[in-house]
Amino acid sequence: MSKQVDIDWSHLGFTYIKTDQRYVSRWQEGQWDQGKLVGDNMLTISEASTALHYGQQCFEGLKAYRRKDGKIQLFRPDQNAKRMKKSCERLLMPEIPEEKFIDACIQVVRANEHYVPPYGTGATLYLRPFIIGVGDTIGVSPAPEYIFSVFCMPVGPYFKGGMVPVNFTVSDYDRAAPQGTGAVKVGGNYAGSMMPHQVAVDRGFADCIYLDPKTHTKIEEVGAANFFGITKADQFITPQSPSILPSITKQSLLHVAKEYLSLGTEERDVYIDKLDEFKEAGACGTAAVITPIGGIEYQEKLHVFYSEKEVGPITQKLYDTLCGIQFGDVEAPKGWVVEI
Ligand code: PLP
Ligand code: COI
Repeated sequence: MSKQVDIDWSHLGFTYIKTDQRYVSRWQEGQWDQGKLVGDNMLTISEASTALHYGQQCFEGLKAYRRKDGKIQLFRPDQNAKRMKKSCERLLMPEIPEEKFIDACIQVVRANEHYVPPYGTGATLYLRPFIIGVGDTIGVSPAPEYIFSVFCMPVGPYFKGGMVPVNFTVSDYDRAAPQGTGAVKVGGNYAGSMMPHQVAVDRGFADCIYLDPKTHTKIEEVGAANFFGITKADQFITPQSPSILPSITKQSLLHVAKEYLSLGTEERDVYIDKLDEFKEAGACGTAAVITPIGGIEYQEKLHVFYSEKEVGPITQKLYDTLCGIQFGDVEAPKGWVVEI
């Protein structure tokens, strides 16, 4: 490692840490500039920027992993680039070419290599690419200029404790509208989720689960992770809906479940009053990794899946295999990891 940093790697949470370098590229007069690494973590933008007033911005989240041999790898950055393209299309922002996105991520990891947690600590380097509309616009129309940036920080578990069961409660609020922006990773979805999240936390839950905004009968997702359940017949089931964020972790788990663990898999409706069909359940995402769900509270009753204290055996196997691939201990499907 190039430099030493004094961090208690095994006790990191999911909090901002300023690292040394971030990548910044600007879009002006119809094109992205070369982009460069900068030390300053402050951005100076016009007070009339569309990102500030109308939420014209999107972001991504991916991680770099330290392998046992000391090398570093990214997990499926092409998928994040593709999803960011969809977010840009939806908000009329210029897209970032996939190669530029991946190159920016690689540059940021290399420049902050000493912040990539050591293998075996369970911690990772979280990368946060984002695009914001900037420049002088006050009407509700696309910005004249944009900034694409990627910063990073070492992180531990998103939900306290990591691979331990947590309870969720079903929210009365919607995270997204049926034909809205739920399927893209735009800030507005998250601004609206802060209050329902707080209500859930104040009542002792880790977070809330949203139901589908049209009928309020089917599980949609968690505020920052997708849902999955394991049926009594060992099927990996995850909701299908046009208003959930298509999780790259979920897509990866569908493959892991089928190809590595020989489970049946299906994306389909998951009815909130039919939780009995599942013997285990979990939340999955880049930040959440796999977080086992102990129970879900709905209409004042807590439905417990496997246990509120222990991790179910299939959830454990999914976790071990996914993390094994991400940390380089288990052979990855072709194209899933990018060595740095
Ligand atoms: N759902 C929401 C709302 C999220 O914010 C995230 C995090 O990115 C996910 C699901 C999980 O997606 P991924 O696995 O691509 O990180
Ligand atoms: C992620 O898992 O990367 C997320 O973006 C979740 C959250 C921190 C918003």
